Amino acid sequence: MKNKVTKAIFPVAGMGTRFLPATKSVPKEIMTLVDRPLVQYAIDEARAAGIEDFIFVTARGKSALEDYFDHAPQLEQELERSGKTELLEAIRATTMDSGTIAYIRQQKAMGLGHAVWCARRLIGDEPFAVMLPDDVIAAETPCLKQMVDAHAETGGNMVAAMEVAPEQTKSYGILDVSAQDGAVVKVRGMIEKPEPAEAPSTLAVIGRYILTPATMRQLGQIAPGKGGELQLTDAIAAEIAETGDVHGFRFRGTRFDCGSKAGFLQATVAFGLARADLGPEFSTYLHELIAARAAAE
Ligand code: UTP
Repeated sequence: MKNKVTKAIFPVAGMGTRFLPATKSVPKEIMTLVDRPLVQYAIDEARAAGIEDFIFVTARGKSALEDYFDHAPQLEQELERSGKTELLEAIRATTMDSGTIAYIRQQKAMGLGHAVWCARRLIGDEPFAVMLPDDVIAAETPCLKQMVDAHAETGGNMVAAMEVAPEQTKSYGILDVSAQDGAVVKVRGMIEKPEPAEAPSTLAVIGRYILTPATMRQLGQIAPGKGGELQLTDAIAAEIAETGDVHGFRFRGTRFDCGSKAGFLQATVAFGLARADLGPEFSTYLHELIAARAAAE
């Protein structure tokens, strides 16, 4: 089995109910952070990590996503004719080379684990990445690249992890780790969304994984878990029990939960402020807005 990670699965078949009514017709992954859809951030991060094959697990109503990665000949011609070279370059960077992107349908939203399992025939006998585009990570070295580098040393399964406040453990998969320090930590156990009192730590798993073919096989064997869904966490937990070959990786960077409204707004502000072309004006606006609100109170 080769150890290099060149394939990534993007499970995007969820219904995005937290963003209704917008997600009635717009897939969540196409929603825009400043001027790029969420999915573009994930693709860029994957490319920076050396991913060559991009596998999207989609569902009914997600065709806008497929169109986004397609050639747009008319638009390109128009931009070329009007000399808008920068925009033309931006558009061309969104087109994926033929054969590098695959779409698989998850017919029924049976959970994240099931979505990943839907891609099993395209993965074969090699390690693969799983990226959730809702988790947008601002980092000097892109998060998945950090993980791929660390994985070259450890092999096995690796999950991205970050510290959360104790009251937030019930929103995440939480790791039970033997040593707390260092970027790479050996995982002894993993619990889905524990109450703070039951949480073995405050180290939470977020949407970046490097998994082995054995974990993919576990997905075909585990029973439905929380909410009647096939949970990715359960397959990883089964691997911890069988092989112990699971590491947590504390990435360097800031993660935004763009699957939630508050997280999406925070990301919009942070990415807007970080942009050279928008930041100064936006910053002035925010300062004025906050000052006006404070004066009115
Ligand atoms: P979420 O738990 O965020 O669910 O899924 P969701 O449907 O996207 O959003 P809400 O909670 O209804 O607002 C986490 C990731 O797993 C994918 C989602 O597309 C998202 O990327 N997923 C979830 C699937 O691909 N299939 C599923 O059956 C469930």
